[in-house]
Amino acid sequence: MDKFVIEGGTQLKGTVPASGSKNAALPIMVAALLVSGKTTLRHVPQLRDVSTLSRLLEMMGARIERRDDRLMIDTRDLVSVEAPYDLVKTMRASIYVLGPLLARARRARVSLPGGCAWGPRPVDLHLKGMEALGAKITIDEGYVVAECPRGLRGAEIHLDIPSVGATGNILMAAVGAKGRTVIRNAAREPEIPALADALSAMGANITGGGTSEITIEGDHPLKSSVVDNIPDRIEAGTFLVGAAMTHGDVTVTRCSPTHLSALMAKLREAGAEVTSEADWVRVRGPEHPKAVNVTTDFYPGFPTDLQAQMMALASMSDGTSIVTEQIYRDRFTHVAELNRLGAHITLDNNVAVIEGRQHLSGAHVMATDLRASAALILAGLAARGETHMSRVYHIDRGYEHIEAKLAGLGAVVRREQEALVV
Ligand code: UD1
Repeated sequence: MDKFVIEGGTQLKGTVPASGSKNAALPIMVAALLVSGKTTLRHVPQLRDVSTLSRLLEMMGARIERRDDRLMIDTRDLVSVEAPYDLVKTMRASIYVLGPLLARARRARVSLPGGCAWGPRPVDLHLKGMEALGAKITIDEGYVVAECPRGLRGAEIHLDIPSVGATGNILMAAVGAKGRTVIRNAAREPEIPALADALSAMGANITGGGTSEITIEGDHPLKSSVVDNIPDRIEAGTFLVGAAMTHGDVTVTRCSPTHLSALMAKLREAGAEVTSEADWVRVRGPEHPKAVNVTTDFYPGFPTDLQAQMMALASMSDGTSIVTEQIYRDRFTHVAELNRLGAHITLDNNVAVIEGRQHLSGAHVMATDLRASAALILAGLAARGETHMSRVYHIDRGYEHIEAKLAGLGAVVRREQEALVV
């Protein structure tokens, strides 16, 4: 297993381009299943989650070719409608295949994803949505078995929670359903309009992507198409928090500042100088960041995927910060690891109280999930001394060329083989 050795006391300085969004690329790759033809997706990051999903689509009969940052997905032949547990358990986004398979093949057998490191992550809204569109759903030996022998039909669906995954899944299914579907209380995260745009480029008739009411006139003929991915707002945000933590000066190019406005406001509150134009954001970090309170929320609120990184910043800010997690109330596995680096964080249910310290100090820590590992890397860069972070495979799921990008900003992060202790 690999680990990272992070040299502390670094100031992140320079320019770094944002990669294509992981969370937008995954559903768009799955949307290719709806078409009997070719979908070319541009700006696809090279990540473990993308390879895992490619493997899953290939098992279903897709032929996939990567050329630089383009992914060509040929879905003329569909040979299987099953998403096995072994793949789904490593990547929950596999549940996205449910909607497109029902729409195209009228049946699907998809493993239930189960929980993740930071608690239960239900898929009830995905299943309710499919049922509303006419699918019959049963659970058999841990698998969702879904069928609609006469095809899906449009429906009015009101989501209890504006879930990104459920909105995307229902949106894809509705594209293949007969008649009109309206999704109310839909997620507004930028990955949803990105998916709606991709589906529209394939020939679907969708209005309202990016608002809380999406209307789909289903069953339009779909065709081969070329689609552009959006920039990764979480990756971009991680580098910007890094600048604020290290008294650095980082410009992230090829990003969408509007997708980052909640973060930019918090970084300003922390004392950073934040400037932006149409496709870049620059953050100049203060000498001593100020404490800020953060409450995660649905878009355009503060993203849960940047909560851990903000907590790393709060750990070394002047004063006491309060971080409230409203989306995934148990998402705090990074707290114990940040405390190993000298942070002072106490937890009460979904509220963390962080008493800022003058400095953090390097230590051995363990990455527990994707965004937690990003927080630990930032904390390690800002700390005094060396930090060893094990279980690097988490970061490889979602940060493209992370060592090279950090090196370009002046950081020293080495990937090493972890010595086995028996
Ligand atoms: C996506 C992102 C993830 C991000 C999250 C919230 C991908 C691949 N992942 O996850 O990085 O942290 O959005 O922005 O895009 N819920 C239910 N029932 C459901 C579905 C969700 O109760 O059927 C709840 C969840 O427990 C959570 C909330 O809804 O409390 C939001 O989850 P959701 O937006 O669905 O997250 P994901 O799509 O899984």
